[in-house]
Amino acid sequence: MRITVVGGGYVGLTTGVCFAHLGNQVMVVEKIKEKVELLRAGRSPIYEPGLEELLQENIRQKRIIFTTNLREGIEFSEVIFICVGTPQRPDGSADLSQVEEVARETAKLMTSYKLLVEKSTVPINTHRLIKKTVQRYIRDPNITYDVASNPEFLREGSAIEDFLKPDRIVVGVESQRAKEIFEELYKDFDCPIIYTDPATAELIKHASNSFLAMKISFINMIADLCEKAGADVKLVADGMGYDKRIGRAFLNAGIGYGGSCFPKDVKAFIRIAQDYGLDFGLLREVEKINQERPIKFVEKIKGILWSLRDKKLAVWGLSFKPNTDDIREAPSIKIVDLLVREGAKLSLYDPKAVENFKVLFPEGKQVSYARDMYEALDGASALLILTEWDEFQRANLKRVKELMELPIIVDGRNIFETEHVKSLGFEYYPVGR
Ligand code: UGA
Repeated sequence: MRITVVGGGYVGLTTGVCFAHLGNQVMVVEKIKEKVELLRAGRSPIYEPGLEELLQENIRQKRIIFTTNLREGIEFSEVIFICVGTPQRPDGSADLSQVEEVARETAKLMTSYKLLVEKSTVPINTHRLIKKTVQRYIRDPNITYDVASNPEFLREGSAIEDFLKPDRIVVGVESQRAKEIFEELYKDFDCPIIYTDPATAELIKHASNSFLAMKISFINMIADLCEKAGADVKLVADGMGYDKRIGRAFLNAGIGYGGSCFPKDVKAFIRIAQDYGLDFGLLREVEKINQERPIKFVEKIKGILWSLRDKKLAVWGLSFKPNTDDIREAPSIKIVDLLVREGAKLSLYDPKAVENFKVLFPEGKQVSYARDMYEALDGASALLILTEWDEFQRANLKRVKELMELPIIVDGRNIFETEHVKSLGFEYYPVGR
């Protein structure tokens, strides 16, 4: 099939590259010229495992092309995936101006049937606004079109795997014609495909993300309780997780959820409910618990080290999760900020996110960046673990101990086994254990 993807960000690029990989002809429309040039040269503007290789392979096979010109994209195919950004406005609602622009411009440019597909996370009933916009701006009223919702559930760091092997595919359509296009598009996928109306599809996406965020905040509260009561949150999560109705996934306690989705989507969902006259107090609490995580973590460090002034602290992990260079809403940002205010001297290390972090925290008197995880430890009073990168789990702990001034590890992600670390002579402070 021929497919057009508008927006070359995380979702757009993964969608485009994966559809191409499945044998389709894909054109990605991206406004930023430099990004298009980079992509044409086979380089991915974001770090995502496997993405660049797949991009290069599909460029070679001539299955994916890039343009800045929306007209070319509209002429290229009848299926237009809208993957543009929906950033957060100060009141928590989603800024849909880029979605509106794509709908408006597509309407003006289309000369034959088009299926416009929302893939970005959007508020419920955005499809109605898209439809209304197309109706208003369309040049020839005889041209037919459909608007559908086909939300994306991919995670950064495992985006390709998530796209190609999803747990389910959700499609919200209103016509048989649109449904048949999706049936063709997804015919090789062997997961459940849920066909529903667009409003339900939009809601499934929001409800899923908010539910996962709720699981995380829930287990984080349990972790606090475990610390006070002398129980082990990992075992509590295991014990709960065996119950099929609960499931073990997303019950890892830590310093809170970050990223470009959960914090923004939970806020937006609260706001959407409000717009319909409902107070989603449960989600407000989920958000509150999450916002308190970095503060509690810093309080804990202070409880262990007393004054932080001029103390050297090593920080491992800055990205909001492993296998990405993304630091959007990462708990590390708030934690580093609070530690700097306390007067600590920080030596930061992350396998991929350093360049992004430097934009927020340039090198200076209190903040420096290490070239590897061991360099960060030199003379440190404590090691703080903020992201569970694999390489940290494989660290040579004997060497770690030798490099530090004090053998103290405050682990925000529970990457080590307590008994093992303690047997090596460390003071070890995991979360909820
Ligand atoms: C999330 C969803 O998992 C995807 O299904 C969805 O498509 C995506 O948002 C989106 O809406 O675009 P993502 O933000 O990439 O994906 O990353 P997650 O793996 O969900 O992690 C989010 C945050 O939760 C991370 O900061 C992670 O450290 C934290 N987390 C996750 C925990 O603290 N504990 C857990 O048990 C799981």
